Amino acid sequence: MANLWSARFSKELDAAVNDFNSSIKVDGLMYKEDIEGSIAHAKMLGACGIIPAEDAEAIIGALKDIREEITSGAIVIDPAAEDIHMFVEGELTKRLPEAGKRLHTARSRNDQVAVDARLYLRAKTDELIAAVKKLVEALYEVAKKNTATVMPGYTHLQRAQPVTLAHHLAAYCAMFMRDASRLKDCRKRMNVSPLGSGALAGTTYPIDRRMTAKLLGFDGVSFNSMDGVSDRDYQVELASASALIMTHLSRLSEEIILWCSWEFRFVELDDAYSTGSSIMPQKKNPDIAELVRGKTGRTYGDLITLLTMLKGIPLAYNKDMQEDKEAIFDSVETTLACLTLFAPMLLTMKVNADNMSKAALKGYINATDLADYLVRKGLPFRAAYKVSGTLVAECVKRGIALNDLTLDELRKESPLFDDDVYEAISLETCLNKRTSEGAPSEEAVSKQLCIIKEFLDER
Ligand code: ARG
Repeated sequence: MANLWSARFSKELDAAVNDFNSSIKVDGLMYKEDIEGSIAHAKMLGACGIIPAEDAEAIIGALKDIREEITSGAIVIDPAAEDIHMFVEGELTKRLPEAGKRLHTARSRNDQVAVDARLYLRAKTDELIAAVKKLVEALYEVAKKNTATVMPGYTHLQRAQPVTLAHHLAAYCAMFMRDASRLKDCRKRMNVSPLGSGALAGTTYPIDRRMTAKLLGFDGVSFNSMDGVSDRDYQVELASASALIMTHLSRLSEEIILWCSWEFRFVELDDAYSTGSSIMPQKKNPDIAELVRGKTGRTYGDLITLLTMLKGIPLAYNKDMQEDKEAIFDSVETTLACLTLFAPMLLTMKVNADNMSKAALKGYINATDLADYLVRKGLPFRAAYKVSGTLVAECVKRGIALNDLTLDELRKESPLFDDDVYEAISLETCLNKRTSEGAPSEEAVSKQLCIIKEFLDER
């Protein structure tokens, strides 16, 4: 079939060129948004007297039929079409040979694609916000049950100081709450209508851009037509927010993978969220967490694709921009899929509190508390640090814990030690004395959980 723009051409497009040029396999996903945008445009054209009101009505009716028929499968999007805009307009003019040809008045595919992508990605952003919230909810549920589950907190992956699983998971809640806020922020800049920017220089017709913006649920209109058709910044922002969500998911995945190992055995994933090995019968692998970690790279690639696509193109629209959709769609779909699987994986995960507290008892994570004990007895911190370090070295040599040293052995290093030292360096004390704002004591964590709950209760 000849292209709608073929008037000034004397030859048909080479088949391979058509294939290369076509974006229908990707932008076909936006058929609903394309039709929604066209309906708003037709309404406005009719209302402003740019096309006859009865033509506008006929166009709107036919567009609604086309939308229904694509959804039901009654018509199939032609894979050889140039893009979704041409396909829908082609269908329309087949049905309304006269009126259908009026739809593209005062519009270009450049503002059309810009509006479609914003509508499509606005809905995806809302899905992402909801999925992030679901994940925070799952983390919150597991945290709530584990405010007394003591585990070692690590730095350099070396046991450092005691925390609880609730405290550890609340840290991830903090990350994902920032992610939700970033998505909401990006949505504001996305929700501006480019429709009416035309090809690049607006139009001579008396259009009403505010009307189409309102019909399509935008908060306002872009204030410059050249920027309107060529702005993809919001996609970079969305890809960046998605890449950061994936970074957070990847860090959590890495921890879950470690925690599932026989070396840690802190958690066990539900059978429904693990896989086996084809050769090693004993294996139960955390494949989902590994795949999430692996797919993170893909979202980084998508972000770089978008930035690189934009960096060299002059104003306004250039065909390079057709590459945006494959990257940004992949970015949001990957992130959505990972978020959606992660929440139930966490909710069904078994926590081995015993193994966590056993690990917390080893590794001298109360060495700071031992030093603090001496500080309370009047010793300067650096001197106390040295005493504690010397005692740790002795315990390492003998393969015992600080709590196993007798009072005499302790007093050899400092006469300030008394009977009350054992209570002062017990795991419970070490944890529950950490009451500073943001710290792991039950009291401090309950405040963190309140902040998370507030976030979950926001509409
Ligand atoms: N398929 C194109 C895209 O996704 C639509 C815009 C085409 N505009 C043009 N002047 N060729 O970017």
